[in-house]
Amino acid sequence: MSFSYQIKSYNEYKEAYKKSVEDPEGFWADVAQNFYWRRKWDTVLKWNFKEPRVEWFAGGKLNITENCLDRHLEKLGDKPAIIWESNDPEEKPRVITYTRLHKRVCQFAQVLRNNGVKKGDRVCIYMGMIPELAYAVLACARIGAIHSVIFGGFSAQSIADRLEDAQAEFIITCDGAHRGAKEIPLKSVIDDALIGNKVVKRVIVYTRTRTPVSMLKGRDVWWEDEMRIVSEGLDVPQGINFGEVEIMDAEDPLFILYTSGSTGKPKGVVHTSGGYMVWTNYTFINVFQYQPGQIHFCTADIGWITGHSYILYGPLSAGATSLMFEGIPTWPDAGRFWDIIDKYKVNILYTAPTAIRSLMGFGLDPLKGKDLSSLKVLGTVGEPINEEAWHWYDEHIGKKKCPIVDTWWQTETGGTLISNLAGITPAKPSWATLPMPGVQPILVDESGKEVTEKDDQGMLKGNLCIKAPWPSILRTTYGDHERCRTNYFATYPDLYFTGDGALKNEEGFYRITGRVDDVLNVSGHRIGTAEVENAINMHAGVVESAVVGYPHDIKGQGIYAYVIFSGRHVDPELTKKDILATVTRIIGAIAKPDKIQFVSGLPKTRSGKIMRRILRKIAEGEISNLGDISTLLDPGVVDEIKNGKI
Ligand code: PRX
Repeated sequence: MSFSYQIKSYNEYKEAYKKSVEDPEGFWADVAQNFYWRRKWDTVLKWNFKEPRVEWFAGGKLNITENCLDRHLEKLGDKPAIIWESNDPEEKPRVITYTRLHKRVCQFAQVLRNNGVKKGDRVCIYMGMIPELAYAVLACARIGAIHSVIFGGFSAQSIADRLEDAQAEFIITCDGAHRGAKEIPLKSVIDDALIGNKVVKRVIVYTRTRTPVSMLKGRDVWWEDEMRIVSEGLDVPQGINFGEVEIMDAEDPLFILYTSGSTGKPKGVVHTSGGYMVWTNYTFINVFQYQPGQIHFCTADIGWITGHSYILYGPLSAGATSLMFEGIPTWPDAGRFWDIIDKYKVNILYTAPTAIRSLMGFGLDPLKGKDLSSLKVLGTVGEPINEEAWHWYDEHIGKKKCPIVDTWWQTETGGTLISNLAGITPAKPSWATLPMPGVQPILVDESGKEVTEKDDQGMLKGNLCIKAPWPSILRTTYGDHERCRTNYFATYPDLYFTGDGALKNEEGFYRITGRVDDVLNVSGHRIGTAEVENAINMHAGVVESAVVGYPHDIKGQGIYAYVIFSGRHVDPELTKKDILATVTRIIGAIAKPDKIQFVSGLPKTRSGKIMRRILRKIAEGEISNLGDISTLLDPGVVDEIKNGKI
């Protein structure tokens, strides 16, 4: 495959950008015609941000899996679609060609049909990083079921909340998952999540770890048994052709992915088929400057948006080889990524700054003897990258020969919005740089007015919004459209608000400075402070808590919790562990505070609002300059908190 819409020079980028703003419909129609549509669209774009309502390629009909699989079979059938590397370096890798992937997806799609899954049904997927996870996701897409993948680190309670919100009737899981030296008992977590659940009809369980599991009669079935029925040609209802796809409207939902916001409850971000396909493919090809035959290694988990867009849909729709890794970067040792790159001759490495910082901490020994010369392009995602980590990545991994793309985007944006294009547009350490064609950023002040005044370094600084829709903007939050409107489209009229702050320099480059709302970014994962507070407050004896972020050398941000505890402390250290256990149970280990400080009160205004600004400063260690605290109800509490800082 060659890509007529791949930008080849800085000038071409400028031209593409200009056209995308002046004539978005013409621009995206040109790109979209490179895909396989069962019926062409009637209109390219209809939108207003008031409701909000966004429709791309309305009237168009397609199935995204025909674009990711079927259309490659003739020319790329024997080429690996997925190369899978086990958690265990001794276990044999699995190489899944496009032909095989197509076959497995069709078979599993039939399994889903046999189990009663229909178009529009929600299917929750809770699995480790194994090829069957890819089959499950794509099989849902093939029959028009809406997948909702939940990251393996979330607790039973989190899963229960998501199942309830999505009213999911089907679950696909594994007995367990391997992650480094740990084994996560996925099915047992699902069993806990299902206590009291009356909606889920079927749980399909794949065997990975041979962890003992309880299988409930009438509800739970084995993946392997169900696949055997299909592969032996049994039980395929009359009239259904094997591999038949559900023809979807461009605007039919493709998936739900839950993500944290500033309220206590995660939101189910909804993406649709047509626009999401076009955008993930377009950004994959242009940002990474993908060349046919290259091997792309995105280290994210498919439980996050990065895995959806740049392990599965983006690379597969481009006919690329996507490397899928089950394990973690530091197991069995901190050279694991480098071993994998050497072993498979990886060309594109896409990872998170937190992973780079953590590997940097092991020094250069793990790199010894590893041949990284196959690498052509490096990428980062998920959080701002500090200059030190950027230079280390550039020098020791890219050997100063590989462009680094710093891709800024969000679960809600579906794919990259601001990034340099590898080797085509300029890079600048810790700057995401320029918007993709079709993306119109604007920086506004608190009142929503465009920022026009530069600071003494010639920079504009403000809250980052986007003026017009790109093809993979979220369409709604599942089951609650009003929530989508108030969260993203009501802060500033007629703008999509990202929740991030940014700088813009004289060259027009953007630098993302981090969230301006009460959302933390811990190791590149989004966690709402209110969510963590709710979880802490569930612990018997906790009266109130306030959670803020603080700079953390490896995680980017750490979680600092101030807790008022009225219970009896047998031992304060034990109480802290109890609180951590509570958070792990309610949300999952990823949300555990790094620091807990017991306090007798929280700094509140006379109207009862917690002054987080003060708590943030104390957590950051900026104790001497707390600003005006005279409006506090009890200024004395500040001294106590300062003295007790951990
Ligand atoms: O704050 C931004 C940060 O991650 C947030 C989005 O998180 P999530 O929806 O989990 O998606 C992460 C993977 C796309 C953003 O609001 N973020 C993401 N990429 C960058 C970033 N911050 C700075 N630079 C980036 N490249």
